[in-house]
Amino acid sequence: MMQSWRLVSLLALFAFWIPSLGSTPAVAAAFAQNSTGTTTNSPAQNNAASSSSSTAQETTSPLQTEPLRGPEQPVPFSHKQHAGTLKMPCEYCHTPSRSGETLTIPRASFCMHCHLTIATDNAGVEKLAAYAKSNTTIPWVRIYELPSFVGFSHKVHLQHGATCEQCHGAVAERVRLYKESDISMATCVNCHRAKQASIDCNTCHMLEQ
Ligand code: HEC
Ligand code: HEC
Ligand code: HEC
Ligand code: HEC
Ligand code: HEC
Repeated sequence: MMQSWRLVSLLALFAFWIPSLGSTPAVAAAFAQNSTGTTTNSPAQNNAASSSSSTAQETTSPLQTEPLRGPEQPVPFSHKQHAGTLKMPCEYCHTPSRSGETLTIPRASFCMHCHLTIATDNAGVEKLAAYAKSNTTIPWVRIYELPSFVGFSHKVHLQHGATCEQCHGAVAERVRLYKESDISMATCVNCHRAKQASIDCNTCHMLEQ
């Protein structure tokens, strides 16, 4: 069922991703090369397919396949499409901050490595391009956010073998993210108990020393 350009693109992506997660211009180039003419799955664009795959054009937008929960985002970004179908690794976009405590959310210009040439007439991509052009930070609505009196480090948890899915659910299957996992104090403390990690109040709450 998968379009052939996509398969080729995926192979190209793996070729770049496996040796180095950072080479986005190369990735974009690989996409640009292989996706000529088939850069949209919008039903309105039904004659844009290249000669060899004209019947494989997708007709359903991924935005229509499940009822959407969670906040509407300024750009309708789909994890299902990027992390699911396209198999982009989480860490490709969510690189750690300098301290490793927080993970970053990519800037519009990062997305444009691909979207300068991919799906350029998709309405969401047009919005994305406008943010990139005006060099504006996309005002993503946050999904998981702890109150400021709680300390949390991704680095420590990932180093101890926790997975993204454990705390954020089946992200790669979601067209739109919602808070499907609980990050309450009880959840934190339960796992800390189970893993024999500290449950002192001070571990998570930055009280005066
Ligand atoms: C490695 C390349 C790549 C990167 C990086 C990338 N995308 Fe995409 N994106 C794609 C491909 C491929 C599609 C599918 C196009 C299609 O189906 O015709 C897509 C589709 C989309 C769509 C259209 C969804 C729909 O309705 O069909 C939007 C919007 C989008 N991406 C936003 C983003 C945003 C925002 C970012 C950055 C956070 C981003 N993309 C990063 C490759 C990429
Ligand atoms: C042990 C639980 C846990 C694991 C494992 C985990 N996260 Fe998180 N994540 C959280 C919590 C809690 C927050 C909210 C942090 C805050 O507001 O300070 C968060 C926030 C985020 C954010 C928003 C930016 C930030 O850092 O606050 C992103 C993006 C994110 N997580 C992605 C991921 C990815 C990708 C993975 C896997 C590589 C992952 N998370 C693994 C619990 C976890
Ligand atoms: C193409 C880039 C890209 C990839 C790949 C990607 N993400 Fe994201 N992620 C984003 C963007 C953009 C947002 C902000 C919009 C949103 O919430 O959907 C985001 C938001 C999130 C958030 C919510 C952060 C918060 O608190 O607001 C979590 C959690 C997350 N991603 C986890 C993951 C996991 C787990 C994976 C791998 C399965 C993954 N992401 C793969 C771009 C990406
Ligand atoms: C999947 C199990 C798990 C969950 C869920 C979890 N933790 Fe942890 N946490 C651990 C483990 C394991 C350690 C490492 C303990 C050690 O260093 O021996 C740890 C360590 C920590 C530390 C100490 C970091 C350091 O610098 O040593 C803090 C703070 C922390 N967790 C906060 C939280 C908060 C807040 C939450 C909930 C949002 C949470 N954790 C959820 C397993 C978990
Ligand atoms: C493993 C991490 C962790 C430990 C240990 C921990 N807390 Fe919390 N605590 C949290 C998180 C996460 C929240 C925020 C919950 C939310 O936003 O829903 C929180 C919230 C709170 C709140 C705000 C009210 C509430 O329930 O939301 C109080 C008060 C509190 N904690 C007290 C304590 C005390 C006292 C201890 C020691 C007995 C302690 N905490 C130990 C993670 C922790």
